[in-house]
Amino acid sequence: MPSNTLTVTDNRTNHTYTLPIEDGTVRSMDFRQIKTGAEDFGLMTYDPAFVNTASCRSSITFIDGERGILEYRGYPIEALAEHCNFLEVAYLLLFGELPNEAQLKDWRTEITHHTMLHETTRKFLDGFHYNAHPMSMLVSTVAALSTVYPEARKVHDPANRLLQVKRLIAKMPTLAAMANRYNVGLPYVYPDNDLSYAENFMNMLWKMVEPKYAANPVLARALDILFILHADHEQNCSTNAMRSVGSSDADPYLSVAAAAAALSGPLHGGANEQVLKMLDEIGSKDNVPAYIRRIKEGHGKLMGFGHRVYKNFDPRAKIIKWTAEKVFEVTGRNPRLDIALELERIALEDEYFISRKLYPNVDFYSGIIYQAMGFKPEFFTVLFAIPRTVGWLAQWQEMHADADLKIARPRQIYTGERKREFIPMEARKAAGAMKA
Ligand code: ACO
Repeated sequence: MPSNTLTVTDNRTNHTYTLPIEDGTVRSMDFRQIKTGAEDFGLMTYDPAFVNTASCRSSITFIDGERGILEYRGYPIEALAEHCNFLEVAYLLLFGELPNEAQLKDWRTEITHHTMLHETTRKFLDGFHYNAHPMSMLVSTVAALSTVYPEARKVHDPANRLLQVKRLIAKMPTLAAMANRYNVGLPYVYPDNDLSYAENFMNMLWKMVEPKYAANPVLARALDILFILHADHEQNCSTNAMRSVGSSDADPYLSVAAAAAALSGPLHGGANEQVLKMLDEIGSKDNVPAYIRRIKEGHGKLMGFGHRVYKNFDPRAKIIKWTAEKVFEVTGRNPRLDIALELERIALEDEYFISRKLYPNVDFYSGIIYQAMGFKPEFFTVLFAIPRTVGWLAQWQEMHADADLKIARPRQIYTGERKREFIPMEARKAAGAMKA
């Protein structure tokens, strides 16, 4: 018997099966042969929320959640955050290697070339309610780009796919900045192609009447680092949405809209907005113990804490804490930092959080930096979506090149009734109707 196999005995039939183990994984479809008889559908595996199911093979991002390791294409996140700029990391994620000087220059020119929006998209923005949530605006406008680029549907044409990838990376900051300007009632600012990716974004957000916007270099670098940290995170909820929707051959604008919609939820990228609301609700350091007590009694969650994969620490949270110090030297210290530090201190000593392996995640400190830089909490998840677009697209590209690609279509365990006798209208009772 080869050692890289799994032997399974079905006690219903006393049959024994030998299943191959590859990369520490068995294929769910290998269980289908396990049946009680010809009429039996065969064994399935049940894994709500994909807690222990690999949905793809990927060579983009590696995470060791027990040891707090995050690598993009094999490079530690700490080294990339220290030495690279965001577009360099985007190139790495998409093409697998760090660009040399000439490649980076070309790549930057390519992205810069696509930062403008078609005027119909700008007019589309004008139709939103005055206080529309910027994340909802971003999801809708990125989907609307699909109407501007109908050729994007040719997802089996690699050159066409790459063109849309460049457009999306270039246009997300423009869409995001315009959503923000719309919210605050300021005229839109068009891209300035002399500036770096982060500086241009700041220009489109904050330029007033000055002829040329000059970003504070410390803040621009901090934003660039935050973009690097958020660029990819393997098969999380939004990336899974990107792959799932993309697997039907939907175009990348619609797939990114679906991924961004998944990101907006408070349990995922929307957590950074919720952290700030939570810190405001706590109000002062003295109220922290009572707040933690309430959480332990089951009243809500400590936002920015816990992670499906990291069970030790989130390496991004460490870099963000360091970045925060640099930002505060320019902006002054955000008073919410003291509440956050106290929350972290008490939670990390508390048996409830220790036993459940709950640690601060990337969202715990990012919002405090964003707020110090002048962003409103409603905008925080948009700041996450801009860099994560690169990860979604790298995963989408990888998926389209994968020989194992099939439309995503999970199975279910049906728990409802069967073969009921039809009841005519006059004989129906009200019981059961409109139940939540
Ligand atoms: N505060 C208090 N208790 C928590 C928290 C939290 N933040 N997170 C998990 N728990 C508890 C759960 O109630 C559960 O307790 P139980 O065993 O007594 O029932 C236990 O810890 C295990 O938690 P699960 O919900 O099973 O963990 P899961 O992996 O499904 O969820 C998640 C991970 C969604 C991130 C969760 O920790 C959470 O909701 N955190 C707060 C929201 C947040 O910060 N999200 C951002 C995540 S990072 C990102 O997406 C970019």
